[in-house]
Amino acid sequence: MSQVVFITGATSGFGRACAYRFAQAGWSLVLTGRRQERLESLKEELGRRVPVHIAALDVRDSEAVKAVVEALPADFRPITALINNAGLALAPEPSQQVALEDWHTMIDTNVTGLVNVTHALLPSLTETGEGATIVNLGSVAGQWPYPGSHVYGASKAFVQQFSYNLRCDLLGTGIRVTDVAPGLSESEFTLVRNRGDQAAYDKLYGDTTPLQPEDIAEQIFHVATLPAHVNINRLEVMPTRQAWSPFAVDRD
Ligand SMILES: NC(=O)c1ccc[n+]([C@@H]2O[C@H](COP(=O)([O-])OP(=O)(O)OC[C@H]3O[C@@H](n4cnc5c(N)ncnc54)[C@H](OP(=O)(O)O)[C@@H]3O)[C@@H](O)[C@H]2O)c1
Repeated sequence: MSQVVFITGATSGFGRACAYRFAQAGWSLVLTGRRQERLESLKEELGRRVPVHIAALDVRDSEAVKAVVEALPADFRPITALINNAGLALAPEPSQQVALEDWHTMIDTNVTGLVNVTHALLPSLTETGEGATIVNLGSVAGQWPYPGSHVYGASKAFVQQFSYNLRCDLLGTGIRVTDVAPGLSESEFTLVRNRGDQAAYDKLYGDTTPLQPEDIAEQIFHVATLPAHVNINRLEVMPTRQAWSPFAVDRD
């Protein structure tokens, strides 16, 4: 029976790179995201190699998530691996300058969206049992504070704790859960965070060597294809050229 991976946020960045990586290994793909035209072009290209099912989906909408899962064609169930990747950061400004709506959007997507999709797919993953995998995209921001991370970092701390707590409940089902927590990675993420500001994108990624989406996809593929008795709880990945800074101190 073919292995099936369900990817949220497959239209860009890590999710898109995962679609290519799992296709390369012959997995069937369920690709979701809001941008229909990007899903269609992925289906056209990757569908020549492996079975591909696409569904336009906003993970914030729990009813839509349930409907997509219920409508999965027989060939795409049960799900072997779920990659909870859809997410975003907004408003890099300090908390005191942020619009409340941006905080809500991050919580709705990174927290509510994550639990919506997980809840809808747990029955299918349980059916798969041994060797099934949930990979949740956390971030170094979930562990390490930095200015302008506010609700984004807090939402990724939720991802970590939710992943660990899921492991407790899923003990005995054979389902693995991993929080994959990347550092500086080059993707549309930074355009979204800075509302399309190309100069901010160029400044962040310029004159250094960020991770590429393919680097993270390789880690996710590794996690999902380890022997069934091996669970990596959290995998934090930074570019070699990124590290921590000293504490900041306010002085007169
Ligand atoms: N890039 C980094 O430096 C970095 C570092 C650590 C962690 N991460 C995390 O890794 C994940 C992927 O980030 P990325 O770098 O690949 O960013 P990206 O290139 O901007 O991709 C984000 C994906 O999420 C989807 N998405 C956003 N909101 C959605 C919604 N409401 N419903 C469904 N899909 C939604 C987008 O698709 P549509 O717009 O088509 O819906 C897109 O495919 C995110 O969870 C992010 O927080 C990123």
